[in-house]
Amino acid sequence: MKIYSRTEKYDKNWVSENWMGPNPLWLLEELCEHMELKPGMKVLDMGCGKGITSIFLAKEFGVTVFANDLWISASENIKRVEEAGVADLVFPIHAEAHALPYADGFFDVAISIDSYQYYGTDELYFPCTYSKLVKTGGQFGIVTPGFTREFDKGYPETLEEYWEDEMFNFHSKDWWRHLWEKTGIVEITACYEMEEPKKIWGSWAKWAKENLDFNDVEFLNADTNNELALIVMSAIKN
Ligand SMILES: C[S@@+](CC[C@H](N)C(=O)[O-])C[C@H]1O[C@@H](n2cnc3c(N)ncnc32)[C@H](O)[C@@H]1O
Repeated sequence: MKIYSRTEKYDKNWVSENWMGPNPLWLLEELCEHMELKPGMKVLDMGCGKGITSIFLAKEFGVTVFANDLWISASENIKRVEEAGVADLVFPIHAEAHALPYADGFFDVAISIDSYQYYGTDELYFPCTYSKLVKTGGQFGIVTPGFTREFDKGYPETLEEYWEDEMFNFHSKDWWRHLWEKTGIVEITACYEMEEPKKIWGSWAKWAKENLDFNDVEFLNADTNNELALIVMSAIKN
């Protein structure tokens, strides 16, 4: 598997105590290959979960991060941020994606790791809400689980047994590209599938099976045609 050298520096137990899906630091490090991040920039980490991506951004790039999440409270995340020694750069915020407390154009960058699919498949979300948060010339980046192509039923036959309604937010890279590109608000700078997605997903799945009684292992194994994907997309605001 590809080596993510920045992620290698972080304690593996700390990552797995705090991840909420496929290793968010690998996903973020892949995305960062397409982002220009400099100290002083204001970054929205949308759906940061337990905040480890926000801590990574602050430590690796010296950016100021608004660590925004819904399921995890700001009071819980601030403890991790303080323990990591980046409380001067990372500000945990508890807010829902449609009720964000930020001024238009406030951010230089908005990223979202394994989260944007929960609210961002709505056609209106990007043009009417999300894109407004970032200034002209600013950057967007997401990494999301999805498929190698679209399916008439929404999912491949191989996954029928495991399919649940909340997975209808899985889409192909071309679907995601079109969703943003057609608005004319951004230029897409990267849109592709990560290499070996099931190896990346698999280490989380194995941990989740052992620790959470949550079985993504069987779901991944059922994908015998290799149609599951982890999609990376970045863009610049016109
Ligand atoms: C699968 S978790 C991923 C968390 C983290 N990025 C990671 O990779 O460990 C998805 C995250 O999206 C956030 N989320 C889902 N729906 C949201 C919404 N409507 N508004 C804000 N955040 C939302 C949840 O709070 C959750 O932490």
